Amino acid sequence: MNFDRHRRLRSSAFMRDMVRETKITKEDLIYPIFVVEKDDVREEVPSMKGVFQISLNLLEEELDAVKKAGIKSVIFFGIPKEKDAEGHGAYDDNGVVQEACRISKRLHPEILVILDTCLCEYTDHGHCGLIDPNTQDVDNDSTLPLLVRTAVSQARAGADIIAPSNMMDGFVSEIRKGLDDNGFSHIPIMSYGIKYASKFYGPFRDAADSTPSFGDRRTYQMDPANRLEAHRELSSDLEEGCDMMIVKPALSYLDIIRDVRERSDVPVVAYNVSGEYAMTRTAVDMGLLDEAVIMEQMISMKRAGADMIITYFAKDICRMLDEGME
Ligand code: PBG
Repeated sequence: MNFDRHRRLRSSAFMRDMVRETKITKEDLIYPIFVVEKDDVREEVPSMKGVFQISLNLLEEELDAVKKAGIKSVIFFGIPKEKDAEGHGAYDDNGVVQEACRISKRLHPEILVILDTCLCEYTDHGHCGLIDPNTQDVDNDSTLPLLVRTAVSQARAGADIIAPSNMMDGFVSEIRKGLDDNGFSHIPIMSYGIKYASKFYGPFRDAADSTPSFGDRRTYQMDPANRLEAHRELSSDLEEGCDMMIVKPALSYLDIIRDVRERSDVPVVAYNVSGEYAMTRTAVDMGLLDEAVIMEQMISMKRAGADMIITYFAKDICRMLDEGME
């Protein structure tokens, strides 16, 4: 039989392993955790099987499980006791994610903590910033100082990385300056600078209770039809000093991940969002697809150019890796 070069390199498991171009490791994974500012809650999010809202007083158990699975980094999202028009809970030094971060650092200091800097989980209207009463739209410039306060209080709580996800113009440079002025110049900014106005965030908004009560986010998030717009967002975030770039969502935007990889030299983070999780989870749980598709999706994000993946599947992936799946 005639073997060409491709066949020769696939001829044994050892050979296939040796020439494999993309691998998933536990270090690639960032696990999102939803923390609630109420006692004794551990409630599954209906649209995200396997994902829970967890009280601060029950967080220890969850962090132990994360540690045991081998996950190295987490990102906390908060559901505050009270929401108001200005999103005070976001920049409260004793706010829910600030407390979650302190607990995590006390129990497992080696787990890297990323905090999401946004107001939408803390505002009663569910938007990512202050509302201008005249336009009923988010007011960019008056929102910026609140985001800076949020980021600084998160750094003060011990966050290793600040991840601003609000998409206000100038948010990276303002937050950078705020962190520097407060003695946190060593804290990197992982910018959600390429964030599409996507329906794939639906389940997250259930989980974080952050669906806008009016309007939508299309004035500050990007149009899914646009690719060059992502290049412009990337350039401005790099200029403003972001250290890592998130592309969100991931699976319907692999071309954008590839673009960011090729157009910048910062680490690229794929956010495998809630709707992507819900789709795959449901299909796997119903027996329509083999669980291995989860790994295939992770591989596709890394192959597209991602260095890290924020994913609700992190625990499942760690188990699959332990079982020898690649
Ligand atoms: C905003 C934020 C959102 C997500 C992460 N950060 C929601 C939004 O923009 O509406 C969505 C993530 C997901 O869908 O998994 N704080």
